[in-house]
Amino acid sequence: MQKEHGSPTDRACLSRRRFLLATGGATATTIFLAAQFSRTGIGEELLAEVAAYERKKVASLSDLKVDTPVSIFYPFDDLNSLSFIVKLGVPASGGVGPSSDIVAFSTLCTHVGGDLSKMEKTYLKEHKILGPCPLHLTTFDLRRHGMVVAGHATQSLPQVVLESDGKDVYATGILGLIYGKHDSADPPEPI
Ligand code: FES
Repeated sequence: MQKEHGSPTDRACLSRRRFLLATGGATATTIFLAAQFSRTGIGEELLAEVAAYERKKVASLSDLKVDTPVSIFYPFDDLNSLSFIVKLGVPASGGVGPSSDIVAFSTLCTHVGGDLSKMEKTYLKEHKILGPCPLHLTTFDLRRHGMVVAGHATQSLPQVVLESDGKDVYATGILGLIYGKHDSADPPEPI
């Protein structure tokens, strides 16, 4: 089945990815992502380190409403894997779907793990920003790979790498290091 990856640039970049899809844990690998927005222009490729995990359906296109984040668990089912998927209504770096506007991110702040999962308080739909973090007020830009807008954090919010396949959206990896992990390939902590 034909896979969609948003913009033509996005499709071209992701077709050259070198994902090593793991059957259980993760495999760290380097891929090219289309950075829709960058300091040097739209459509520039971004060489990124991604932890590839098992492909998992995380949403159906028809269930996603603009500016309505939905909680998902990825890459595992533990609390550290609590993430969210949202249709921004505007194109975004790494966005999938017909409008390249569907993205997903971790809910753990990269500074010291502040809880960003209370979307009704932290999702700013006017600016497509997540935050401020309740601990030290960092905000993250969801259109630009979760990069820090302001605050104490120095690392972008880890982005769930998505694919749209027909009517469904799948997660395939994590761009960045989820807070609390020493390595992107770490399995979940035992409870
Ligand atoms: S934990 Fe989020 S800014 Fe400090």
